[in-house]
Amino acid sequence: MFIFLMVLAISFMSTDSLTCHQVGAGNLSIADSSTSTDCGVGSLTCVKVVDLTRGTYTKQCQSLNCTLNGVSNAVANCANTSTVTGNMLTCCCYGDGCNSAPHSASYLAILLTALSAIGFIV
Ligand SMILES: *[C@@H]1O[C@H](CO)[C@@H](O)[C@H](O)[C@H]1NC(C)=O
Ligand SMILES: *[C@@H]1O[C@H](CO)[C@@H](O)[C@H](O)[C@H]1NC(C)=O
Ligand SMILES: *[C@@H]1O[C@H](CO)[C@@H](O)[C@H](O)[C@H]1NC(C)=O
Repeated sequence: MFIFLMVLAISFMSTDSLTCHQVGAGNLSIADSSTSTDCGVGSLTCVKVVDLTRGTYTKQCQSLNCTLNGVSNAVANCANTSTVTGNMLTCCCYGDGCNSAPHSASYLAILLTALSAIGFIV
């Protein structure tokens, strides 16, 4: 099972044609109608940054792996940070269109659910 997860994780990361939702300036009170579009070559992850103070968000591709508590190559996750301009929620995830929902509770939970579902079938 562990090896299978590693293979699956690597296959997510090594895809050349990752697609992500890409929104320059979104408003949290308006549903996101964006579609998932091609990232440039070398993109590894999708990210979503929510400005909880202003009620806005951006979504984009990222050519880095997810980080968690300063450790790179981490699993998909969301982290709250508070800056001088307000509270931000940053989510990072692997896989096409994974940064879809602005209010997703936990990408990690979704990823683990998906993985266990696949693992169950295999
Ligand atoms: C978001 O949309 C709502 C409803 O249309 C509007 O009242 C609000 O000012 C918008 N917020 C921003 C930051 O544009
Ligand atoms: C992303 O993670 C993979 C697997 O751990 C690693 O091989 C790759 O070098 C990492 N890429 C970057 C840009 O950190
Ligand atoms: C981040 O903060 C928001 C608002 O306080 C909260 O709803 C959300 O659950 C938090 N998310 C994480 C991953 O801590």
